[in-house]
Amino acid sequence: MFESLEIIPQDPILSLMGEFLADQNPNKVDLGVGVYKTEDGQTPVLASVKTAEQYRWQNEASKSYIGGPGNIEFNQLMRVLALGAEHPALAQNRVASIQAPGGCGSLRLGAELINRIEPGKTIWMSKPTWANHVPLFGEAGLSIAEYPYYDRENCAVRFAQMCQTLEQQAKAGDVVLLHACCHNPCGADLNNEQWQTLAELCKAKGLVPFLDMAYQGFGSGLAEDTFGVRTMAATVDEMFVAISCSKNFGLYRERIGLLMVIAADSHGAEASGSQLINLARGIWSMPPAHGAALVATILSSDELRQQWQGEVKEMRDRINGLRSQAVAKLNKACGGADFSFIEKEFGMFSFLGIGPEQVQRLKQEFGIYMVNSSRINVAGLNAGNMDYFAESVAKVL
Ligand SMILES: Cc1ncc(COP(=O)(O)O)c(C=O)c1O
Repeated sequence: MFESLEIIPQDPILSLMGEFLADQNPNKVDLGVGVYKTEDGQTPVLASVKTAEQYRWQNEASKSYIGGPGNIEFNQLMRVLALGAEHPALAQNRVASIQAPGGCGSLRLGAELINRIEPGKTIWMSKPTWANHVPLFGEAGLSIAEYPYYDRENCAVRFAQMCQTLEQQAKAGDVVLLHACCHNPCGADLNNEQWQTLAELCKAKGLVPFLDMAYQGFGSGLAEDTFGVRTMAATVDEMFVAISCSKNFGLYRERIGLLMVIAADSHGAEASGSQLINLARGIWSMPPAHGAALVATILSSDELRQQWQGEVKEMRDRINGLRSQAVAKLNKACGGADFSFIEKEFGMFSFLGIGPEQVQRLKQEFGIYMVNSSRINVAGLNAGNMDYFAESVAKVL
């Protein structure tokens, strides 16, 4: 039965990882894969997570299933982390949520629910967006449309064109996928005023926002980065939020995330919640326990929560510090070119703004690896490779 199957080429980021590992260049630099790295290039387990794991090892009393919605305490705490404790939708029972395997599991389950409500419904995505958004929504059956987002020439958000496209081309009931913070791949985020304008636009046009929050805390702060989510939730009646704990808890391989639906009333929330459990039953049946238990342990303990907040701040401060250093080094090395946009962006990613041939030369001649679009993971830079990086970029410019 498998003869007719074609061999699919490996995902470009995964093959880049393979090429990097095989490269013998002692100066090689990995700016490709999207994981946080410390000054010495490691992606360590957070200390708060280690303590929570120890607690769990000592206290876990059963390995029985945890049930369809997942860890209930995790669900409650994550809702509050995203919306704030005072959000009226919580008191009005308008929120449903389900634990899912990572941000991707949450996005896919949301896509499945949308397709169950209306097969082939249109979802609008930013141009560009994270490459995996396309299969996550497209393979669930949704129709994908694009709104302009990043202006490569001016290294800024094309907000007017974005609004104009949604205003003129989207129809009531269409879903709009938005990066809640730390846009992947471009790092250019909406400012607070733009979020407010966009929320009003969605409300007026009857568009349903779907916020993907994979980097809460990596931009401006844990609460600050929820501005888009909270503004939307305060303005529109119905929306989705997919949250990943991969980056801010460093729980990448534990596959832990949450999908939240905010409905217009408590019936909508109850119905959505029941449909989500039913959909998940037909895909993974029961969620894994470990990641959710760790997050719940951390968020429910004053001490561990504080420690975790400190660790998130440390990661954020390091990334922002690297952004400033990269701008200074690049501007100095590449006399005349202006990279100051990198400092105005958020999260781990930015486009360097160079062409594919230059990206190839950086890889082949200097062992500097980045995605073909010139997306770099800023966290892959450090004191040891920053000068080499800037000088190499200058050589290919
Ligand atoms: C924009 C965006 N959304 C969602 C995710 C989901 O990540 P995960 O499924 O590993 O939690 C990522 C991870 O890179 C991402 O960049």
